[in-house]
Amino acid sequence: MPNVQNLSSAPNPGAAARLSNWMRNRSWAIAMTVAIVITVGGLVILETARERIAAEYETALEARGVAVQLSTLASQLARLSAEQSHFLLTKEDAFADAFCATAAQIRQTKQQLDGFYRSGRADSAELASFTQVLALIDARIGAGAAALQHAAPHPLDLGACGSTSRIDPADAALIDSTLTLLRDNEERRAQHALAASRADQRISTLCAAALSALNIVLFILLFRNLGIQIDRQARVQRQLITQQEELDQLVNERTRQLEALGWHLQAVSENEKTQLARELHDELGAILTASKMDVAWANRKLKDSAPDISDKLKRALANLDQGIALKRRIIEDMRPTVLANFGLVTALRTLADEAAQRNSWTRELHLPADDIQLDEQTEIALFRVAQESLTNAAKYARASKVSIALQVDDGQVTLHIADNGVGITPADLKRTHTHGLLGMRQRVAAHGGCFDIRRGVPNGTEIDVVMPSASTATPSVDLPPATPSPTSV
Ligand SMILES: Nc1ncnc2c1ncn2[C@@H]1O[C@H](COP(=O)(O)OP(=O)(O)O)[C@@H](O)[C@H]1O
Ligand SMILES: [Mg+2]
Repeated sequence: MPNVQNLSSAPNPGAAARLSNWMRNRSWAIAMTVAIVITVGGLVILETARERIAAEYETALEARGVAVQLSTLASQLARLSAEQSHFLLTKEDAFADAFCATAAQIRQTKQQLDGFYRSGRADSAELASFTQVLALIDARIGAGAAALQHAAPHPLDLGACGSTSRIDPADAALIDSTLTLLRDNEERRAQHALAASRADQRISTLCAAALSALNIVLFILLFRNLGIQIDRQARVQRQLITQQEELDQLVNERTRQLEALGWHLQAVSENEKTQLARELHDELGAILTASKMDVAWANRKLKDSAPDISDKLKRALANLDQGIALKRRIIEDMRPTVLANFGLVTALRTLADEAAQRNSWTRELHLPADDIQLDEQTEIALFRVAQESLTNAAKYARASKVSIALQVDDGQVTLHIADNGVGITPADLKRTHTHGLLGMRQRVAAHGGCFDIRRGVPNGTEIDVVMPSASTATPSVDLPPATPSPTSV
């Protein structure tokens, strides 16, 4: 089963990647934890070293103190011997008193040293040596007192000097050497404590330096990391801005293309309507007119001889008239002849008059007195907007009054149409499946204008159109040339 073996022993790449991801994401937290642990450890080491240094200083001071007291004891013993010698030479009581005073001082010093040696801070050999030297000192004082008493011309009061005794001269030398030994021991102890405290000071200094270095490294890493993050954020922001600009450019480009397409489609539609209107006018108009003339001629001939046929011909004439009127209406809708022949102002007035008459509206017109000269496409766009607005007012507004205002100034033309009906609702403005408002908006935008429709105050609907008086739209494809305006039959 080699494959199974391989599979089970192969490292899991997913888990490894997850682990390395986890490490990367938490590297900063891990570094901080390690730094905190190291810092706390360093502080503990520093505090321990400080306590040890303090204890070592105490020990050194104490050892120095003991050494000084041992020296004092040795010098007091030397003074005791000197006072004893003076008395033996001069027999003056003052030297005997001085002897006793020195003996009392020696006992005091002994007591202080005894306190130290029995406190447990000295080792057992030192304690044994000290106990031995104490006994020898007592014997030394007693022997001195005995010698004074023996040489004195009259009995002395030497009770304060302790009991008299004898001492071997070798013991005197032993006292000196033991005191010297004990003092050397204390000197060594002091030296040793001072050396240990110096070592601890070095450790503290090293520890403090290492902690400072660690903190400096951490600060450097922190600032580097911050710098990297700020750089990364700035890069991401720059990328976002670039993407946003590219998207904006794309949207602008698409909008421009759609506007150009809208303009082109409208121009094509208007041209086709114009062509169809001309065909209807020239061809169908000619046929209908010729038929009407023929039927009228036949009717005149048969009026007296065949009244039945004449009646039928009269009905045919009436039907032909209806056909001609229908053709004229269709042509008018497709290519308003009044617009082509008399201009925008007259066309708007005619449109408003007809609509007002049809719907029993009162109308209010604010139109320029003289006809104005605008770009043909702009005129058609404004006329179609007015046409659709009045159609909507008739269909939905239940209005009793409409007003139309047209104004031209500073290279732009403004059209305002208002009714006093029920008013357009916000929901109507959001509808996407109706094409009247959308068509008006697109038609105006395609010519570089602005279209605004809103509910009036307190009711009714208001429409505002502002367009450049010469169309700014440029078709993206070649369009057929404009055809001459048809004339009405
Ligand atoms: N003058 C107006 N008064 C009231 N409502 C209107 C008016 N003009 C448009 N509307 C509302 O706006 C809707 C959209 O109008 P439009 O896009 O022209 O669509 P439609 O094809 O129905 O005419 C209409 O269905 C109507 O409800
Ligand atoms: Mg409509």
